[in-house]
Amino acid sequence: MKVLIFSTKKEAVEAAVKVILKQVKTKPNSTLGLASGSTVIPIYNLLSKKTSMSKTKTFNLDEYTSTKNTLRKFMQKHLFIKTKIKKQNIHFPNAINPKNYDREIENAGGIDLQILGIGQNGHIAFNEPCSQFSSKTRKIKLSSSTRKSNSHFFKSPKQVPTHAVTMGLATIMSSKKIILIATGKNKAEAIAKTILSKPSAKTPASILQNHKDTIIILDKTAASGLKK
Ligand code: GLP
Repeated sequence: MKVLIFSTKKEAVEAAVKVILKQVKTKPNSTLGLASGSTVIPIYNLLSKKTSMSKTKTFNLDEYTSTKNTLRKFMQKHLFIKTKIKKQNIHFPNAINPKNYDREIENAGGIDLQILGIGQNGHIAFNEPCSQFSSKTRKIKLSSSTRKSNSHFFKSPKQVPTHAVTMGLATIMSSKKIILIATGKNKAEAIAKTILSKPSAKTPASILQNHKDTIIILDKTAASGLKK
């Protein structure tokens, strides 16, 4: 696991975009795994100014189950509408047949580059603490802390869905390359556990220590828990 620390959020965003651009320029028909959340908004904004992604295939990490296409709408607004990614190349997991998603990813040749954020409790995608390292795409109950953290995307905290369908940890780990980006002090504790603790289901992101090509991109506030 390689860890890159930048002085500002802007520099961290630029570094993440550089990795993604390199991937889509080297292999225009790359398969990308995509995250949602506030952290990736500036990444998608900058990325869409630099590439059309007309041949890119995408697999999003997750989707809420009790609302209609919430994360698809998020992606539409922040990335898809600004690029030429073809509708038929965009994929989201669904709660009816979650296992099919792993098969679809395999049939597309696997994920070349997976983009990840991290939850304050150390989740990646919606793999909440105690998710098994062997987990595949499945439906999951969201923790109250995750529902609280994500409530700013909804009109009221009560409207935050209770369940989601998420790529599993094993699904994520099968990606050829992974970048995880975290910015802001509220991610410092999760990042410290991810990088410094022994891999454990308590901090799902710590599984990335076992991946052979993962880059963690941080601004200095998110990295502040790494200092001794
Ligand atoms: C959600 C998503 C994760 C994302 C996390 C962080 O829970 N399922 O994929 O990493 O939010 O979101 P934010 O960037 O808004 O802090």
